[in-house]
Amino acid sequence: MSADQQAKKEHIRKLQREKDTVILAHYYVDGSVQEIADFVGDSYFLARKAVDIPQKNILFCGVSFMAESAKILNPDKKVIMADETADCPMAHMADAAKIREVRQKYEDAAVVCYVNSTAEIKAESDVCVTSSNAVRVVRALTNQRIFFIPDNNLGRHVAEQVPEKTFIFHDGFCHVHTDISAQDVEKAKEIHPDALVLSHPECTADVLALSDFIGSTSEIIDFTCASDQDEFIICTETGVFYELQQKNPQKKFYSAARSQICPNMKKITLDKVERALEEMAPEMVVEDELARSASRPLVRMLELAK
Ligand code: 13P
Ligand code: SF4
Repeated sequence: MSADQQAKKEHIRKLQREKDTVILAHYYVDGSVQEIADFVGDSYFLARKAVDIPQKNILFCGVSFMAESAKILNPDKKVIMADETADCPMAHMADAAKIREVRQKYEDAAVVCYVNSTAEIKAESDVCVTSSNAVRVVRALTNQRIFFIPDNNLGRHVAEQVPEKTFIFHDGFCHVHTDISAQDVEKAKEIHPDALVLSHPECTADVLALSDFIGSTSEIIDFTCASDQDEFIICTETGVFYELQQKNPQKKFYSAARSQICPNMKKITLDKVERALEEMAPEMVVEDELARSASRPLVRMLELAK
């Protein structure tokens, strides 16, 4: 690490202490940012952590729906972002009109909203889920009919594991994960025949069918730590390689495709973290009534997923 980078990290730590701010980061941000974060995790871990921290302020290193959820769950804390333009396209793919239409047609349907959604969409939903708790939460619901929004691949993956329920799917997707093709995975398996294939459930069904394990970012990391295998083909955003390598320095990790990079997560840099702490901005603001409506499905998720 260069002397400049070391000085920046020390400055960030000093600002953090002075400004009573915890840094939360997702596994998809750059390794240099994960290194200075107080807590790094998947979406579920970060949502739980956000309600459990003593600091007055939160600096969120991830995309905006994550900072927005942290704010909704902590209306009294100041939540700032390293880059407010870091936005997940999937968060805007569901729409309130479609939800109301489905509710009218099927009064018994539970609207299950993947947490990668805006507060407006969450506010229209019955419960939120993340990729690591979706099966648990859907099983815990008394509703027999589920409208799963917005991610089609995650919805279908959950439906396979909860065959006793009837699902209506939405057509949302993550471009980073759907860009990984079955041919990419097959080619990677030819090059690394001993490697296990580990995939995020946002990948397409044909990629999931070729996978030895399917799970959230944290679950993929935990799998590699528990496994006695040494080589893995990873079908999710390459930010996870930082933690995979930290936890398993002797093991080998390969990506399946060239395109496994989320451009929004990669907007988060150490320079922006430093500037956000200096200015305590940009701040995530969620209007009170919207925050109250959107907190209901988030809190329900935290309860049902326990
Ligand atoms: P995780 O819930 O596995 O952290 O995934 C978040 C995400 O954005 C996947 O694309
Ligand atoms: Fe959104 Fe996909 Fe990026 Fe995750 S990886 S934040 S779902 S665009």
